Amino acid sequence: DWTMANFIDMEVDKIRNQVGDRKVLCALSGGVDSSVVAALIHKAIGDQLTCIFVDHGLLRKDEGETVMRTFRDQFQMNIIKIDAQDRFLSKLTGVSDPEQKRKIIGNEFIYVFDDEAEKIKDIDYLAQGTLYTDIVESGTETAQTIKSHHNVGGLPEDMEFELIEPLNTLFKDEVRALGTELGVPDDIVWRQPFPGPGLGIRVLGEITPQKVEIVRETDAILREEIRNAGLERDIWQFFTVLPDIQSVGVMGDARTYDYAIGIRAVTSVDGMTSDWARIPWDVLEKISTRMVNEVSHVNRVLYDVTSKPPATIEWE
Ligand code: XMP
Repeated sequence: DWTMANFIDMEVDKIRNQVGDRKVLCALSGGVDSSVVAALIHKAIGDQLTCIFVDHGLLRKDEGETVMRTFRDQFQMNIIKIDAQDRFLSKLTGVSDPEQKRKIIGNEFIYVFDDEAEKIKDIDYLAQGTLYTDIVESGTETAQTIKSHHNVGGLPEDMEFELIEPLNTLFKDEVRALGTELGVPDDIVWRQPFPGPGLGIRVLGEITPQKVEIVRETDAILREEIRNAGLERDIWQFFTVLPDIQSVGVMGDARTYDYAIGIRAVTSVDGMTSDWARIPWDVLEKISTRMVNEVSHVNRVLYDVTSKPPATIEWE
């Protein structure tokens, strides 16, 4: 009968039989799916697995450190972190169209990964955290045509890898349970969905280092206060966005002309539809005060009260 422990035993056997003494590569994003797939394959073949973690400079605060602490220090995996911030940023300079930004980030990710993969010899397999729902949705989901999500089929065509996709019969809740069983920490297993293009689509319009910093710092405050309020698991996604709006404010005796930051927090079952989360006023008050006081160039805080549809969850 089906238990998580049985599933792990079966998959470990299957992976060992398939891979033999050959090598597997995995693109680790720090998201739930790629983290769990890495942990599972590592359990099966240990050092024959190498993970590549690309820091595109559009990660949330402390995200890179958490991934490295978990997988390099705790799991003792072979993991290579690529600091590609400059590469991504220079490609994105002057670009403000959301789909264009997505395309550039997605392509650059593949180039960076490709460059790194080439340096590692004799790789035969590529592990991917494809879920059952990814396979089903990529054929039918209309959102795919609204925004080009690139979780599936993002492989460069000339890469000669065989795919290993041990999660492709599982749903998200099963993947979380599997991750917990494998010892993946809660902050990764219960991580909220985070788009591949990262903070790049939360800075609206052209991306600059200063704007990324504003989104990253306000997002960190939001996450801390939502966690403190015990609301983390009730809200599907919560994050900040930086519209390109500057407005007048007053601080001390001085007039300011600085950025407005938007808070997006939604409840949802599958991300296809969503409602805005009813965060208590006093929590919002604390968040707003902290953002204006602690993050330079923010003098106004907005709360998005739109459901999906008609709005999407992300602003771009
Ligand atoms: P929207 O904004 O379309 O988002 O309501 C639905 C879900 O998809 C995520 N999302 C993305 N994920 N790459 C991703 O990997 C993307 O380009 C992307 N755009 C949106 C979004 O965070 C939400 O969970």
